[in-house]
Amino acid sequence: MSDRLYFFDTTLRDGEQVPGCQLNTVEKIQLAKQLELLGVDVIEAGFPISSPGDFTSVQEISKAVTWPTVCALTRAVMKDIDVAADALKYAKRKRIHTGIGTSDFHIKYKFNSTREEIIERGVAAVKYARKFVDDVEFYAEDAGRTENEYLARVVEAAIKAGATVINIPDTTGYCLPQEFGAKIKYLCDHVAGIENVIISTHCHNDLGMATANTIAGVLNGARQVEVTINGIGERAGNTSLEEVAMIVRSHHQDIPLDININTTKICPTSRMVSNLMNMPVQPNKAIVGRNAFAHSSGIHQDGVLKNAQTYEIIDPKDIGLDENSIVLTARSGRAALKHRLQSLGVELDQDKLDTVYQQFLQLADKKKDVSEDDLLILAGSHRNTGKHITIDYLQVTSGVGVRSVASLGLNIAGEHFEAAATGTGPVDAAICALKKIINRPMTMKEFTIQSISKGSDDIGKVHIQLEYNGGVYYGFGAHTDIIAASVEAYVDCINKFRN
Ligand code: KIV
Ligand code: ZN
Repeated sequence: MSDRLYFFDTTLRDGEQVPGCQLNTVEKIQLAKQLELLGVDVIEAGFPISSPGDFTSVQEISKAVTWPTVCALTRAVMKDIDVAADALKYAKRKRIHTGIGTSDFHIKYKFNSTREEIIERGVAAVKYARKFVDDVEFYAEDAGRTENEYLARVVEAAIKAGATVINIPDTTGYCLPQEFGAKIKYLCDHVAGIENVIISTHCHNDLGMATANTIAGVLNGARQVEVTINGIGERAGNTSLEEVAMIVRSHHQDIPLDININTTKICPTSRMVSNLMNMPVQPNKAIVGRNAFAHSSGIHQDGVLKNAQTYEIIDPKDIGLDENSIVLTARSGRAALKHRLQSLGVELDQDKLDTVYQQFLQLADKKKDVSEDDLLILAGSHRNTGKHITIDYLQVTSGVGVRSVASLGLNIAGEHFEAAATGTGPVDAAICALKKIINRPMTMKEFTIQSISKGSDDIGKVHIQLEYNGGVYYGFGAHTDIIAASVEAYVDCINKFRN
């Protein structure tokens, strides 16, 4: 059996399916290039039939990266495979990922079909995909809840049809680690031809066992792991790349497998994903959480100061965590800002850096400590430039015993519009003014305001979801003035409307 463990990253496909985490093509290319630097073997770049945006992203990522295999997802449907093959046409190494649900739940309720017919459909899809590419991965969706004997028949048929990789997803995150490990072992022991393909794990985290199940799969013969950065993914997420990579590195004696991951790129990549997707990493997240290396108790601090290994099993430098980060203040120069942004995974050209630097100086005048989150927001706030609608000005008066009044000026495709409105509070007044200018039937589904640290001088982050014309749109705004952040988030949503 191979002593190499392949990393298949699905941040741009399963990860990107999370509501509110959608990226545009430019952002996807930026992330794909970072994944290449990180050393992933396969990038699942999207589901091309699902939308023109996904098609374009798969196509552009195929052009942008060199070493990783670019993979496109399909259902066991010929049209999906045609479109995937077309989207992959520029990839230097390409893979089609096709498959079908194999649990009785899927067969009966999703497909209203039979076990035999499902095998036939899977086989036909693999054979068809092989007409376009040499590398075809077959997934047995909900394999975690598929009876092993039947699963072995499905897998054997897919291998005979030409599959090169066999993906065993625990789609619902239901399996126990020993159960999932035993499933992989069962396939290794009972499927003819299994030694000629790579078995892949694809675990979801609904019961918090995705990483444990993935490792159980690897210990029993799987040689590819399907993972996402920060463990993002539908519902409770997917197995996180950084956890599996560091488990394999830390337990090399028990898991003597080579991996191509450059672990020092883990932190910058984690931050890039969190930044681009506006998805904060939980502070106690293993490996990449803000507190993962923060020792607060006196006993721990004392031990770590004497010898870091007393309480740390990973050297922070191994995951690219720069302990000696220079503290940024109003006296810091552009070079220090650029260096810190790079360590956070943000690359800016000179013009953008100049703008962000001016914003940074203004913030540093107001705040004693400019945190990394603040910097990411400053860099990210830049994303509003070049948008169809931008805010020209906003003025609000509010107080106790008076009705709030807002006047707002918007620039819409180069033309200036303004309106004034009253409201139950300053945010409501500002949004009412905005709705007078943009008079469309929009319904607010969600509105949250968060601060980054704790001070009254803090940046407020606003997340909004709007329903408009049958679609739900997500917007983000960040500003030291929460009313301005709210209007920014609203405008960000509207800029994403498709018509
Ligand atoms: O979770 C799952 O089963 C999937 C497949 C489409 C691979 O994401
Ligand atoms: Zn999945």
